[in-house]
Amino acid sequence: MTWDTIILGAGAAGMMCATQTGGRTLVLDHAKAPGEKIRISGGGRCNFTNMYAGPENFLSGNPHFCKSALSRYTQWDFIDLITAHGIAYHEKTLGQLFCDTTAKDIVAMLRAEITKSGAELWLETAITNVTHDGTSFAVTVEKSGRREALTCTNLVLATGGKSIPKMGATGLAYDIARQFGLAVKDTRAGLVPFTFSDGRFKAISGLSHPVRATAGETTFDEALLFTHRGLSGPAMLQISSYWHEGQPITLDLFPDADPFEVLRTRRQGYGRRNLSTELATLLPARLAELLTDQWQLTGNLADQSDVALRALCDRLHGWTMTPSGTEGYRTAEVTLGGIDTNALSSKTMEAKAMPGLFVIGEAVDVTGWLGGFNFQWAWSSGWAAGQAIAARP
Ligand code: FDA
Repeated sequence: MTWDTIILGAGAAGMMCATQTGGRTLVLDHAKAPGEKIRISGGGRCNFTNMYAGPENFLSGNPHFCKSALSRYTQWDFIDLITAHGIAYHEKTLGQLFCDTTAKDIVAMLRAEITKSGAELWLETAITNVTHDGTSFAVTVEKSGRREALTCTNLVLATGGKSIPKMGATGLAYDIARQFGLAVKDTRAGLVPFTFSDGRFKAISGLSHPVRATAGETTFDEALLFTHRGLSGPAMLQISSYWHEGQPITLDLFPDADPFEVLRTRRQGYGRRNLSTELATLLPARLAELLTDQWQLTGNLADQSDVALRALCDRLHGWTMTPSGTEGYRTAEVTLGGIDTNALSSKTMEAKAMPGLFVIGEAVDVTGWLGGFNFQWAWSSGWAAGQAIAARP
């Protein structure tokens, strides 16, 4: 069975790539259905891109690497594609675009485009071995209990990262990359909730509040969600990608205003109010209660000097804590790290030292923020590799 191109992985990047390659292209996946992460993403509506997507929204050992693909297949190109397929969409917030109806429309669109391009898709296919003889790749697979020996000129690694093993995520792309001498940067879970082993937020789980979250030099203004096991919500997921084990994070509970003057003024009219009651006029009551307990705040408003009020406000702006860890790959939306961008051409996604080998999507050491950026990287990198393959003699 000889193919021009074999794409390992029928996720977002692999499917997009298959729409472009031309020639005899085969897409392989061990899952029952293609694009499973697309289907479940965005609460079933898929946050498929972001209107403001740019290189600054990505983490990578080389922040310049993603520029070429992102600029050649942009969010507007993908929007044109879904518009041509009659898929209605809307902006939810911060440029994040979602399907009006269902994420399944995007999977169906990609399947239709693959069929149009003439590529084949084999599902429930286990990839058991990959070798290269200096000219072509040999890929051994098992399908319906049968072993098949396939060969191809171009091999595309598109099996994604390690996030959510229950959905079929594996480290296959990393293993094959290492086998062919490509460096792989250490991986860790990204866009993932924080855990606290003492369950300190159990009492207020479900409560949400807008914050400015900081880890190291990086800051995000978004909502925080307290959970049984720790902290989640967009602000925490975003900051988790910049966080390292043992590092503190800081929450500003008043990102847009300083409550100091309000508290000073209230001290005159409501001096006999205790601090906890007063805080509950500024913050959700259950959060105010938790802070009063944890910080052992006592006394009435009238008892607080300007210095004490200032110190309280500083604590509200800079609530610092060190998470025990994160929920890990079990629930992470993405995998940080991956195949070293130094090993790849940023224009074609082809391995510099191994012509014919391409790596796209989340398997590459390029990780987007929350908000549609990871799918945009999958579309852009998949398209770039597909175009490069189509242009090969
Ligand atoms: P992807 O993971 O999509 O595809 C990899 C494919 O390879 C899968 O089909 C898998 O079955 C297959 N595969 C893996 N190992 C294999 C093996 N050993 N043999 C054969 N096949 C194998 N991003 C975003 O921009 N907006 C969003 O709304 C969301 N929402 C979201 C929700 C959840 C719950 C998750 C987990 C993730 C998101 N993401 C997201 C991230 C986004 O889903 C992710 O970045 C892209 O799907 C990555 O695309 P890839 O094609 O690289 O991998």
